[in-house]
Amino acid sequence: MSDAYDLVVIGGGPGGYVAAIRAAQLGLKTAIVEKRGALGGTCLNVGCIPSKALLQSSHHFEFAGHEFAHHGIKTTGLTLDLKTMMGRKDKVVQELTQGIEFLMKKNKIDYILGEGLITAPGEVAVKPAKKGDKKQVLKTENIIIATGSDVTPLSGVKIDEKRIVSSTGALELKGVPQTLVVVGAGVIGLELGSVWGRLGAKVTVVEFLDHILPGMDAEVSKQMQRILAKQGIEFKLSSKVTAAKASKAGVTLSIEAVSAEKGGGKKETLKADVVLVAIGRRPYTEGLGLDKAGVEMDDHGFIKIDEDFQTNVEGIFAIGDVIGGAMLAHKAEDEGVVAVEIMAGQSGHINYDAIPGVVYTWPEVANLGKTEEQLKEAGVDYRVGKFPFTANSRARCNADADGFVKILADATTDAVLGCHIIGPEAGDLIQEVAVAMELSASAEDIARISHGHPGLSEAVKEAALGVDGRAIHI
Ligand code: FAD
Ligand code: NAI
Repeated sequence: MSDAYDLVVIGGGPGGYVAAIRAAQLGLKTAIVEKRGALGGTCLNVGCIPSKALLQSSHHFEFAGHEFAHHGIKTTGLTLDLKTMMGRKDKVVQELTQGIEFLMKKNKIDYILGEGLITAPGEVAVKPAKKGDKKQVLKTENIIIATGSDVTPLSGVKIDEKRIVSSTGALELKGVPQTLVVVGAGVIGLELGSVWGRLGAKVTVVEFLDHILPGMDAEVSKQMQRILAKQGIEFKLSSKVTAAKASKAGVTLSIEAVSAEKGGGKKETLKADVVLVAIGRRPYTEGLGLDKAGVEMDDHGFIKIDEDFQTNVEGIFAIGDVIGGAMLAHKAEDEGVVAVEIMAGQSGHINYDAIPGVVYTWPEVANLGKTEEQLKEAGVDYRVGKFPFTANSRARCNADADGFVKILADATTDAVLGCHIIGPEAGDLIQEVAVAMELSASAEDIARISHGHPGLSEAVKEAALGVDGRAIHI
């Protein structure tokens, strides 16, 4: 293996491996360094993929147990085989991560298993992950740091990945806990809380703020809380966990009301078989040698970059979770592509306003662009078109009519500024609006496009019509 590269990527997650493939497509001699033992990063190994596999399986279980009967399908003796469910999830992960390894070979990218350390601009030392393998020093024109993120710890609460777990441990539980307390009503808390709730756990979510899903449109956050509460999830808002004590019998959590007005700082204890800590993720740069290389970070530890994804050190770039912004796999991928294209002398651009976010609960939640609160704060004059799935014929056929589509458009130009959906397949439905936003379309443009009937996407069309007050089916 030659050790002179055009590009060395450190970190084999969605940001890193996609950047490597794009670089190879552009003719750059590329290596990717990954220490985990498998490619795919957080997303494929302990994030997006295993969580979605379990969300799908647990949705089937929930559906068979509680919804089949409405369709005239009777089941008896429904039981859970958690070992098989977990085994299926592990197989999906294994197949997909091996698929990435195949893509590295196909694109003639050197996959180097080990921990990358930047010893100087243009030089990456790799500490081998396997005993007996030799340390390598890679010479390279450019370096991309794509080392991602890690779990944010909660002070006073020690994660042991058995009783007190992060998302990684919550994807590996050996049995269904009778009681699960989730700390943090963000994306991970609601997705993994849903998984274990559907499989039989009594789930309580403790959230610091007075609402769930922070950053989402307030109407979505309120309605989603009602829907999840109906599904059996209990919420303790405006509350913080101050300590947790784990024993063989379970975990005792100390909780305190956040605001003196609301709860007077009231304290209580909660007992749970398992506690999931999901209060966010932080950039991961441990062992990278950034101080020595002189790469600047901000106060939160995110790597600072310019508009070309280059750090303050020439030839060292950074993308994905480690630079901050939305911590999403597709955002990391897009940044990887653009960074490499710019490096190769092309131009590239990301419209951060048109990156969809999806929460894979049931119903799903999808958001894009601005929320009503953001538009109000910015003083933008906007109009709202909203259409409920109860009035969508396909949703009624499917008996899946919770939620709505809401489109926000500029009051003067009718340009689409945002879209917020709670509903079946919301994550796929929002893509149409993402295309519209990328093409600077108006709400009327969406409204005039023919949508197949009976289809869930007709709710998007109706919401677009609603912007002008002329929805047909409501
Ligand atoms: P990562 O995927 O974190 O990859 C970084 C890689 O770098 C890791 O494999 C790490 O081992 C490696 N590394 C670090 N330091 C070194 C070093 N010095 N040398 C060599 N290798 C190193 N996002 C979505 O868009 N959709 C989802 O459904 C979704 N679900 C999620 C569910 C969970 C439970 C979690 C935790 C996250 C989820 N995310 C989801 C977020 C998504 O996983 C991340 O945004 C995405 O993985 C970020 O990609 P990345 O390439 O920046 O970093
Ligand atoms: P998050 O930022 O989505 O939510 C964390 C929640 O914890 C917030 O509501 C916050 O107010 C709350 N919190 C913070 N400190 C607290 C405390 N001391 N006590 C109680 N509550 C507290 O972070 P989360 O859920 O950990 O997810 C991390 C990242 O992973 C997110 O940025 C998300 O983008 C990504 N992710 C994406 C998914 C998707 O796209 N479907 C799925 C899962 C994760």
